Amino acid sequence: MQENKILIDAKNLERVYFNGIIKTYALKNVSLKIKEGEFVAIMGPSGSGKSTLLHQLGLLDIPTKGTIIIDEEDVVNLSDGERTRFRLEKLGYVFQSYNLIPELTALENVYVTPMARGIKKEDYVKAAKEVLEQVGLGDRRDHYPSELSGGQQQRVSIGRALVNKPKILFADEPTANLDSDSSNEIVKLFRKLNKESGQTVVMVTHEENEGKKADRIIWVKDGVLDADKEQLRNAQ
Ligand SMILES: Nc1ncnc2c1ncn2[C@@H]1O[C@H](COP(=O)(O)OP(=O)(O)O)[C@@H](O)[C@H]1O
Ligand SMILES: [Mg+2]
Repeated sequence: MQENKILIDAKNLERVYFNGIIKTYALKNVSLKIKEGEFVAIMGPSGSGKSTLLHQLGLLDIPTKGTIIIDEEDVVNLSDGERTRFRLEKLGYVFQSYNLIPELTALENVYVTPMARGIKKEDYVKAAKEVLEQVGLGDRRDHYPSELSGGQQQRVSIGRALVNKPKILFADEPTANLDSDSSNEIVKLFRKLNKESGQTVVMVTHEENEGKKADRIIWVKDGVLDADKEQLRNAQ
């Protein structure tokens, strides 16, 4: 395998939630690197800090301590405006809920962001059509969300995340609302996007069979990287 560059370099991340009375250490001293073109799964029990970790790496939250370099930029110390720009230009997100706009077709749901960014209509329509082909919904682009299955709606949301050609696609339990067949399809789609387009993917899941489809699993337990599981992997 060719040596790809380090795309995400996180060091000593800490995220403490403080409600005025108690402190919850959702992340403690987490350091990790993710290379360009990797498909990484983040796994661990419920409440272990998976979403918190994804939110730090995806610039949806700011760590209380630690550093994160993404694409050679220090992203912890960005201003709010710079952070928003960085997210829009370089990152894409898929969540458990599809968050599609019910009044818009699949195609329109995919192109709302590039449209809002002031890109020319013919360009954003073309990009949205291409991306719907990529996620296997070329024949469904004029359907409304209510006319699509859960798995198809999630594909639209993946298309929406991809339309800006993000450096990194983040997904937080993207299959949690789906039956096992649709879940498999979604994970296969991530695998395909990764293989065919070199898309870097960071996916939180609690399904071990989904984690195994990734190149690598980062195990989290009680807010720290699970060293025992790491050792197990290295010993294999
Ligand atoms: N906004 C918040 N305020 C206080 N505690 C939180 C908040 N978000 C998450 N936590 C706590 O941080 C820990 C990790 O949560 P989370 O990252 O959501 O876990 P996971 O995604 O692995 O289920 C949990 O103990 C959770 O209760
Ligand atoms: Mg979570």
